[in-house]
Amino acid sequence: MSETLTVAVLGTGIMGAGMARNLAAAGHDVRAWNRTIARAEPLAEHGVRVVADSAEAVRDADVVLTMLLDGPAVLDVMNAVAPALREGAVWAQCSTVGPQAQGELAAFAARHGLLFLDAPVVGTKQPAESGQLIVLAAGPTAARPVADRVFDAVGRRTVWVGEDGVGGPASALKLVVNSWVLAVTNATGEVMALAKGLAVDPDQVFAALEGGALDLPYLHLKAQAIRDADYAASFTVDAALKDARLVVAAGEGAGLRLDVAAAGAERLARASALGHGEQDMAANYFAGFSDPADA
Ligand SMILES: NC(=O)c1ccc[n+]([C@@H]2O[C@H](COP(=O)([O-])OP(=O)(O)OC[C@H]3O[C@@H](n4cnc5c(N)ncnc54)[C@H](OP(=O)(O)O)[C@@H]3O)[C@@H](O)[C@H]2O)c1
Repeated sequence: MSETLTVAVLGTGIMGAGMARNLAAAGHDVRAWNRTIARAEPLAEHGVRVVADSAEAVRDADVVLTMLLDGPAVLDVMNAVAPALREGAVWAQCSTVGPQAQGELAAFAARHGLLFLDAPVVGTKQPAESGQLIVLAAGPTAARPVADRVFDAVGRRTVWVGEDGVGGPASALKLVVNSWVLAVTNATGEVMALAKGLAVDPDQVFAALEGGALDLPYLHLKAQAIRDADYAASFTVDAALKDARLVVAAGEGAGLRLDVAAAGAERLARASALGHGEQDMAANYFAGFSDPADA
């Protein structure tokens, strides 16, 4: 296989757009498809071939990289392109879908002769744009040489968790990591709502925490977004809600009671119902008020 890979990126939302751009910047031949093509079109200025037809994106591609919202979306899109897939192509399934759906996608890959990589990523919009994601990956050794070139273009590190993507071991790791992300983000929204409700100055909250182990950079980041009322999405409330539900379901499947994750999912669902679904997950803040006018 030549040095230049032909890579089809399916899904150019917040994450997929930056990943497609970095793959092109690394010298690969990148075709990008997105359901709403207007979201993909700006990539043309960065050496990415934007295509309106998803089958055209995958035809003869060495690698198919999916970065879509959830498992059902990935399956729909892959079913649509199935006749155009090249047998033996590598499929890097990077969307967060949870281990169960990832298993169903791995079965699709087996039926179509694809080398399947269970490959969710850690990191948000900015790391996606700067090629600094952490890729969590499981998949066959035969796919590694190609996978390494793809993952090196989009990430700063790949954590290999096994040679079999079928059971979704990297997706399981991703859910555990995201349960922490969601817990911290929901807690930040709640801390800021409580400070507002009790007329406590957030600066004094930070002064009280300063220098201690709980003075988390992430708390500062999301609290600042709330203080600035800047909810431009790095990770939307609706995508976070999808992940919170995946965490709860995976926990139930394992015989666990994940009370924090379940409460976080309810909180995100409430924020979404209040109209904040497309905003950054920091907007879970609004779910903390009985009367939204108090926020
Ligand atoms: N943002 C983050 O911080 C982050 C970090 C790590 C992992 N992830 C994961 O990465 C994936 C993408 O997230 P994102 O943040 O990039 O979300 P996003 O901006 O909302 O993009 C979602 C993508 O999925 C597409 N899509 C949704 N439903 C579809 C359907 N039924 N058929 C076809 N396409 C569909 C969207 O197309 P349209 O543009 O047409 O709506 C868009 O391309 C998700 O699994 C998310 O959990 C996100």
